[in-house]
Amino acid sequence: MIVTDVLAPRSGKPRAFVPTMGALHDGHRELMRVAREHVGLEGEVVVSVFVNPLQFGANEDFDQYPRTLEADRAACEAEGVNILYVPTVWTIYGESPSITVDPGPLGEELEGASRPGHFAGVLTVVGILLHQVAPDFALFGEKDYQQLELVRRMCRDLSFPVTVVGVPTVRESDGLARSSRNVYLSADDRRRAAAIPRALKAGSNATSVEQIRTAAIHELNAADLDIDYVEVRSNDLGHDVPEGEARLLLAVHAGSSRLIDNGPVHVGSDGSE
Ligand code: PAJ
Repeated sequence: MIVTDVLAPRSGKPRAFVPTMGALHDGHRELMRVAREHVGLEGEVVVSVFVNPLQFGANEDFDQYPRTLEADRAACEAEGVNILYVPTVWTIYGESPSITVDPGPLGEELEGASRPGHFAGVLTVVGILLHQVAPDFALFGEKDYQQLELVRRMCRDLSFPVTVVGVPTVRESDGLARSSRNVYLSADDRRRAAAIPRALKAGSNATSVEQIRTAAIHELNAADLDIDYVEVRSNDLGHDVPEGEARLLLAVHAGSSRLIDNGPVHVGSDGSE
């Protein structure tokens, strides 16, 4: 495995790319496995580790974000990654960048409402990384569903020559989504956080949009979690939710942590079936 802060020009082999901020866990490792499936043993899997300052708000956890490069390196090695790219702020942003990617209206909603500028920071770094790495496939987790949708839209609207692949969320045994930020949870917050997957499940058993929201909110309230939002959207995060498959998305505060999750729901024809 090559570990580098500067990428050589890419070879002609098929290439799949997994961008991360490090503190790698089983969710990231699943992305690496799916990446390998897309390019085969002859292809190249590239993983980047870069804690992107541009996507953190002033009051967020940029300084405290876990940095575990030695363990990350071992995880990548174990997954047969070909290139671990660990750029510096300079190799990403250069001297004094002034151009960013505008995520459009969806960038202000859901996560964007609580985190102004977050998605401009995400799309800007993902855009730069996609140009530098020049992959055929780029893998993103459904865990960050809005991020996945915005990356899809950026690649479509700005003609990035890459196929964006979404990967289902990897969960703990009690259903809590794996996250680099789970290490911040106290034992009590961790117990209460188990209500999040229960809320998604309760929502998936309901039918009308309002019943879905009510069922989810009930579970979160019962665990005393502080709700930021609980929304039902179409699969591409539109406000008009059609009958059939849709998405339930939520964000809560548990102690000092903010946790997000989402899952599929089925919206019934008359809300009573
Ligand atoms: P990070 O939080 O490190 O996540 C990297 C990728 O792993 C993202 O695509 C995320 O959705 C995925 N992921 C995280 N937890 C997961 C889980 N439990 N199951 C499946 N996939 C999971 O997301 C970012 O970094 C950054 O915003 C980044 C895209 C790298 C830009 O800086």
